[in-house]
Amino acid sequence: MRIIQCFVLINMCSLWWAQQPHNDGEWVTKDRDRVAKPGPCNIVVQDGSLTQDEFLERYAYSKPVVIKGASHNQLFKSRTRRSVLLNNYGHMTVRLSSANSYSYAKKDMSFKDYCNHHIHPQQLSALGNETFYLFGDNSHEEWQNLLELYEPPPYSLPHHLPAYSFGLAGPGTGVPFHFHGPGFAETIWGRKRWFMYPPDVEPKFHPNCTTLQWLMEVYPDVKDNPNLYECTLQPGEIVYFPDKWWHATLNIDSSVFISTFLSP
Ligand SMILES: *[C@@H]1O[C@H](CO)[C@@H](O)[C@H](O)[C@H]1NC(C)=O
Ligand SMILES: *[C@@H]1O[C@H](CO)[C@@H](O)[C@H](O)[C@H]1NC(C)=O
Repeated sequence: MRIIQCFVLINMCSLWWAQQPHNDGEWVTKDRDRVAKPGPCNIVVQDGSLTQDEFLERYAYSKPVVIKGASHNQLFKSRTRRSVLLNNYGHMTVRLSSANSYSYAKKDMSFKDYCNHHIHPQQLSALGNETFYLFGDNSHEEWQNLLELYEPPPYSLPHHLPAYSFGLAGPGTGVPFHFHGPGFAETIWGRKRWFMYPPDVEPKFHPNCTTLQWLMEVYPDVKDNPNLYECTLQPGEIVYFPDKWWHATLNIDSSVFISTFLSP
């Protein structure tokens, strides 16, 4: 009788456990693998009540902003859970990019291989030009089915059209400082730390070092510099980077993220 009760209890426990929302989309990050921590936020934070006119007036052409509560991506979020992505896209070949500032070298592998063997924590000793992960290169048309489900941030720039790019990477990965046209970025699963400088203030960094190396070696000297803007985005939060603002990123957890590039 005892044994049966025990079995019933174990069964109930595992049922309960399976139903809990673990809230990482199965992109598990072990505590000891979190090689970088979230940081402070000195970028203006707005909520979803920010109007398009206010966006244009206050931020679009002048400074970054973080927007909370403007994303409505439950569907996209559910489709980017690990098991769902693997089921739908495991067979596909993905193109990884090197994590340095300018020379994005490329490497191809199956999405399944990438998820199973390449989403590991960034090693502090690894250089950016020798680190490859999935971001910025999803020209493959099979991703379009997924990207169509993404609900973009509800703001726009006149005479600019959006293009989406999604990525997926392990804790401690990120792209070092670089700049390009304006756009938004949103974290879907996991947290991501952002660092920015205005266009006329070139940050101190080596283009082949990783953001993690920059964080350890340079950040302590510049963290109080008023030109350094930074924030850690939680899932569902959006950051806007204006035209030609320098930016570097750092994934705190195993993360799924998406950028909306705005081009004339
Ligand atoms: C990566 O960059 C470093 C420093 O710039 C350089 O010494 C090294 O040869 C590069 N590695 C590769 C594989 O190109
Ligand atoms: C960075 O790495 C790339 C590719 O590995 C190499 O061609 C380039 O010379 C390196 N840049 C610097 C500044 O070391």
